[in-house]
Amino acid sequence: MSPLTQSVLLDGERLQAHKALSAFRDAFGGEPRLFRSPGRVNLIGEHTDYNDGFVLPAAVDKAVYIAVAPAPGSRVEIRAVDLGEGHAFDLGRLEKSGRRWPDYLIGVVDQLIKRGAEVGAFRCAFGGDVPIAAGMSSSAAIEAGLAYALNALFELGLDLLDLVKLAQKAENEFVGVRCGIMDQFANIFGREKSVLKLDCRSLDWAYYPFDRPDLGVVLCDTRVMRELASSEYNVRRRQCEEGVRSLARHEAGLGSLRDVSRDLLDAHREELDPVVYKRCAYVIEENGRVEAACDDLGRGDFAAFGRRMSASHAGLRDDYEVSCRELDILVEAAAGVRGVYGSRMMGAGFGGCTISLVEDGAVGALEEAATGAFREAFGRAPRFYVGRLRSGTREIRLS
Ligand code: GLA
Repeated sequence: MSPLTQSVLLDGERLQAHKALSAFRDAFGGEPRLFRSPGRVNLIGEHTDYNDGFVLPAAVDKAVYIAVAPAPGSRVEIRAVDLGEGHAFDLGRLEKSGRRWPDYLIGVVDQLIKRGAEVGAFRCAFGGDVPIAAGMSSSAAIEAGLAYALNALFELGLDLLDLVKLAQKAENEFVGVRCGIMDQFANIFGREKSVLKLDCRSLDWAYYPFDRPDLGVVLCDTRVMRELASSEYNVRRRQCEEGVRSLARHEAGLGSLRDVSRDLLDAHREELDPVVYKRCAYVIEENGRVEAACDDLGRGDFAAFGRRMSASHAGLRDDYEVSCRELDILVEAAAGVRGVYGSRMMGAGFGGCTISLVEDGAVGALEEAATGAFREAFGRAPRFYVGRLRSGTREIRLS
């Protein structure tokens, strides 16, 4: 596979890319190859990926930049530029590092080796501006970005979908987080000014243009560290599995909530734990919302699209119960601003960001309203990012 080159870098992107490049030169010397691996947003379709459902993510301008070059022998040296930390390991001995960030990279090497890929030793410095623990998938950006970079560097011949699956497996098996496939998929397959509708069962995908010039995507970051996110995430997964197990008694071949209609769920409501019922109902509705939201995009009806985002938040808050007070306050504040089409929590939940669809002229008013409400409730301000939809992971060249 010949690596594609990102055509034009934005100023902020160029700055981050230079930072990774000079950190590499300072630490190791020599000339590395450079890759840009973006964070992602998700417009709608939350907690549906691991239920074989639909998601609608996009890659953004916040990204991790990975400078990497082959090294002699079997010793791999990696540096996290923003943390000012380094780590080294031997290709013949892949073990958990005892810290979080090296495991993302070691996990990718581990998966490559398990597939029999002839990956050699390398040196790598990476850093960037994807906010950590904000729900923009900085970990997927590191994993999928490194998988892509090593595939190019050592000419491993893996296709893009292989890289997505491999990066997800690294997170599932080595890091130990049971995430779905959305983040890694958006990271690799993202496209400029487009959202990506992914069917997480068949892995078919389609792009939808998302570039009305007067509309943008604004993220409000609660800066709440998502302590509960991974434990509750696994609880939600188990609850969905429990729902499928119970319903499968009535319908042979039922493998996931994707196969469950609202009628089937309601017909057996009495047999289900009420909490499990709520979780399943949310997932079924959310899948329907993604499909309807794509129809909205087809018609250019962004107002309808925004209303579905808000309905998604209500479901996540009341039925799936993965929101928190901070996220709810931001969504409520956004709802009162003219020119905001819709707003919802994004990602796993329990903190991180909300995502809002906003007319350009209303961004200031949204920031003001959200900051005011948030300050009043919590005595501090949220942080804002205006998300530009960019391409997925690519090799870049700095002139
Ligand atoms: C996290 C996971 C994704 C997805 C979302 C919820 O971001 O990594 O796979 O499940 O939560 O939609």
